Order: sequence, then structure tokens, then C-alpha cells
Amino acid sequence: MLRSTMAYDNDWTRRQFLARTGTVAAAGAVGPLAGAATRSVSPNDKLVIGLIGCGGMGAANMRSLMEFPDVQVAAVCDVDDARMPNDIRDVEKKYGRRPDTYKDYRKMLERKDIDAVIVGTPDHWHALNLIHACEAGKDAYCEKPLSHDIVEAVSMAEAVKRHKRIVQCGTWQRSTKEFTDALDFIRSGKLGKVVLCRAWISDGFRAGHQKPTDPPKSLDYDMWVGPAGFLPYQTNRCHYNWRWYMNFGGGLSTDWGVHMMDICLLGMSKDQDLVMPTKVTSFGGQLAMPDDDRTAPDTMEAIYEFKDPDFVMHWAINRDHPGMEGHGTEFVSADGRTLRVWRGGWKVLDPNGKELPKEESAPPPSHWRNWVDCVKTRTLPRAHLGSVAQTTIVCHLSNVALYAGETVHWDAKKMDIDGKVGKSTQQYKRPYRKGYELPKYWPATA
Ligand SMILES: NC(=O)c1ccc[n+]([C@@H]2O[C@H](COP(=O)([O-])OP(=O)(O)OC[C@H]3O[C@@H](n4cnc5c(N)ncnc54)[C@H](O)[C@@H]3O)[C@@H](O)[C@H]2O)c1
Repeated sequence: MLRSTMAYDNDWTRRQFLARTGTVAAAGAVGPLAGAATRSVSPNDKLVIGLIGCGGMGAANMRSLMEFPDVQVAAVCDVDDARMPNDIRDVEKKYGRRPDTYKDYRKMLERKDIDAVIVGTPDHWHALNLIHACEAGKDAYCEKPLSHDIVEAVSMAEAVKRHKRIVQCGTWQRSTKEFTDALDFIRSGKLGKVVLCRAWISDGFRAGHQKPTDPPKSLDYDMWVGPAGFLPYQTNRCHYNWRWYMNFGGGLSTDWGVHMMDICLLGMSKDQDLVMPTKVTSFGGQLAMPDDDRTAPDTMEAIYEFKDPDFVMHWAINRDHPGMEGHGTEFVSADGRTLRVWRGGWKVLDPNGKELPKEESAPPPSHWRNWVDCVKTRTLPRAHLGSVAQTTIVCHLSNVALYAGETVHWDAKKMDIDGKVGKSTQQYKRPYRKGYELPKYWPATA
């Protein structure tokens, strides 16, 4: 059971305040979580990190972390040699020393001098990378969505808990001003009783058509596929493009749902231990681009029921967004007022769309700084993995319901699907390819 095992401070507003005033150890403090780290990093020490998955968002995280004088990048790892040169160059330029390079992340995890890793691989690899990092005593910054399926997400949360690791997830919206201001407004009750939440993303991506080819010589494609089902190499389903294939990712319901639904769940919860749905129903599929190589839904509507607090959440993969941002989150109160937040702003509207007054605060510390500080103080970061695992599961449930074709029931106490419906979908649990095994952390302990 995840919920009862996560101890968090109970006051988001107070925590926000503490975070903004720089009292970072107190922000999210839950007492010492010191685990069997490779070495213990004191506040004055440099945090030595390694990157797993170069060239994309993992590398962007690495560059954000390199801005801090108390961070040192020692090594980078990728299954494709061609993805590493820019990252090697920037690390060498910064520290005057070439980082060590690895093709197999398990070799990098054997190093005792590396305290923490960035997991910047595609979604189908996160569970193995992260759990192995926890077992090696490393803390981690792990990209979102956390997993390819529900069982992986529960397993990851359990591994983090058992090995007492400090893991920040890449849901950086939790640390940007428009979202923290909006969440403060909701949590302080200023919008009144919220009965409906909406989250959405617009989709216009076309993968096109390709025939399989030989992978480039620089790429260990078999290792890139890793635990996922084997599909022959095509550039339109490898680097970056994997996210449009349900074999590797979860489509936009996890890729963007984990950002936008995360805000709904945070707003409707007291702290990082998130309220979970009781039922989910979902409709849609590959309706707009049925003949494209992609397999992820391009049009989708999912409805979630929540109890205590009682509300409904609506998730949509839209084709359009007239008069709105292409992504966003809304909270609707019983009296018809709406709070809308997106990357770049937020507003409060009356039932006729007229803007109402709102309140601004100082921006919170950066997501990456928060992680470094929390690693050093052994406190929970703002996007603690146990919490983002809950959001990730909520996102997966929309796909589970879609592919099950029936309403799926969720048991928040057991942190599992209630009944059989949905359990045979790959978004609940996938078979691992021969040679790969998900370490056993599931079902989670109470
Ligand atoms: N937080 C955000 O806003 C944000 C934005 C973009 C992407 N992401 C997330 O970041 C992750 C990476 O996305 P991306 O777009 O950068 O992907 P990408 O395909 O561009 O890069 C991933 C890299 O990982 C490498 N890789 C794959 N398997 C590996 C393994 N076993 N060991 C080492 N390297 C391996 C690949 O070769 C590739 O170079 C995804 O989970 C994605 O959802 C988050």
C-alpha cells in the first residue's frame, strides 16, 4: 500500500512558503531517510552524478544540474555512441575533464564514487534503470512518466521506499510559479468546493510510414529495446519517436497526462500523497490517423470518479483547442468558477468567463536545486517518486480502461485494480522480453 506508507508534511501552503523562503530542509521535511548510500553526501560535499540516456531530456536535466557548484558530472551512458558526443563535450568544457562513458548502465552503477544518477531513457527502460540504481545505493532524478505500466510504477515506489532513496521525478511543473500559485489558491479553498477537474493536451503528431532497416552501427538496438516487445528498427519509432508507440510508451495520456493530471491530483489532495480514483472509463483510439505507423491513441476522453473528496476528473487528448492553450488543467467549483492553469500562466474565471482577482507569490526554488538539497538533507523532494508513481498510475488507468473496453475499478488501499477488468492489458503489466526481469517489489508491502 503506497498511501499509508508515505509520510509527508500536511500543509502544502506552509511548505510552499518554507521552500520559497529558502528553508529547503524544512520544505517537505519528513525526518531522516538516510539509506545505504554509496557514500553519504554532506551539505558541503559535491554531489557526483552520472547520466543514463544522453541527447534528450536526460541531458537537459544534466545541464540544469551542472549550473550548481556542488554538483559534479562524472560519467555518461547511452546504448547509442552517436548520442553522447555533445554531452561529453559540455561536461569536459565545464569540469576540464572528460566524463567516463558507458554503454551498459549497470557498469556505471557499480562505481562507488557516483552518488546519484539521472534516468533519461525512454519510458520502457525507467523501471529497470531506477530499481537497479536504488539497489546500488544511488539516489536519482527520474524522468516522467515513471513507467510503462502500473505494476512497474508500484514496484519502483516500493524499491525507493525499501532502499530509502531520494528520487525526484521530472514533473517540473511542480516547481514553477504558475502551478504553485494555482495550487496554493485551490488548496487554500479560495475557489470554493471543487467538483470537476479537467486536463487536456492537443495532438497533431504523425509518425508517417517507414519500412524496417538495419540499425545504425553506433546503436546497440537490442539493448535499446531492452525489456519491451521486440520490433524491428525504424527511425520513426526509435530516438524521441518511441513515445508514439504503446510498445515503448503510453502515448500522450502518460507523456503529458502525467504533467497535467498531476496538477488536478495535487490540487485535490492535502499533500504529496495523492487522492486516487475509484473508477475510470475511457473512449477513443487511433481515430484521426488510423493508417499511421504510430499506435498511440490520437483522440481520447477518459472520465475518473473520485470519492472523499467527491469529484469527477476529465482527461482529453484533443484534436483542437479553440481559444485555449494546447494543454492545461482546470478546476471547476460548485458555483461555476473555474481556475485554469497552463505552462506560462493561470487565471480565475467567473461562470461567464470574466476574469476574477488572483494572488501571486514568489517563485519556488528550481526543481533541480530542490533535488540536490533534498539528497543532502535526506528529505522528500517536491516530486517524490512515491507521489509521481500515483499520478503515473492514474494516467495508465485511462489506457487500461481504453484497451479493456470496460470501466476499471481501482482499490486505493491495495494500490491495485479491483477485480479482473483491465488486468490483462499491457498497460497494467507487460511480459518482459527474455533476458530481462523486473526485480520483485510487487505487490507492495503495507
Ligand atoms: N520532464 C519533461 O518535461 C520531459 C520532456 C521530454 C522528455 N521527457 C522524458 O524524458 C525521457 C527521455 O525522453 P527523450 O525525448 O529525451 O528520449 P530520447 O529517445 O531522445 O533519448 C533517450 C536516450 O536514452 C538512450 N537509451 C535507451 N535505452 C538506454 C539504456 N538502457 N541505457 C542507456 N541509454 C539508453 C537512447 O539511446 C537515447 O539516446 C522520457 O521518459 C520522456 O518522457 C520529459
